[in-house]
Amino acid sequence: MPWIFGYGSLIWRPDFKYEERLPCYVRGYVRRFWQASPDHRGTPAAPGRVVTLVPEAAAETWGIAYRIDEAAAREIFPQLDVREQAGYSLETLLLRVGDERREGPRALTYIGLAGNDAYTGGEAPTTIAQVIAASHGPSGSNRDYLHRLGRALREHDIADPHVFELETLVAELPSPGAQK
Ligand code: BEZ
Repeated sequence: MPWIFGYGSLIWRPDFKYEERLPCYVRGYVRRFWQASPDHRGTPAAPGRVVTLVPEAAAETWGIAYRIDEAAAREIFPQLDVREQAGYSLETLLLRVGDERREGPRALTYIGLAGNDAYTGGEAPTTIAQVIAASHGPSGSNRDYLHRLGRALREHDIADPHVFELETLVAELPSPGAQK
């Protein structure tokens, strides 16, 4: 049975039927707001920023994996391919589970690999925060995406200094159209 690993919006909004839900992590990656979003949390003219996984030795990224049945997978993946457009590719990663850090199943996940057209790798947190504070797209504001992710991580007791730092930086910036 296929598994899907979510480390971004799939943590709080899977939007598909699943058989089992598993808090878990992948080794060798960090979560970074290094993927431009011209289609969800921004526009082609003013793309927002959303997360991708970036290789980093010895790092761990926690998220939620979902087990889906084969028949559902045939519907879910085409839907996710549409939902997660702009530069993401479907990759397979080994999940790790539990305090004893045992090997879990392999899972499919969407990653914006370095070099894709929307990759913004290396951007400084202050720059990312300014983009997030100002961006809005068909799926809503980029602030909303950041806050939902931060809240979902806290609900699952997942600490992510990069995400939490961005929340602090964005909170200090005015929203577009806000009265001075
Ligand atoms: C996710 O895991 O939630 C996700 C992240 C980036 C693109 C698609 C899904």
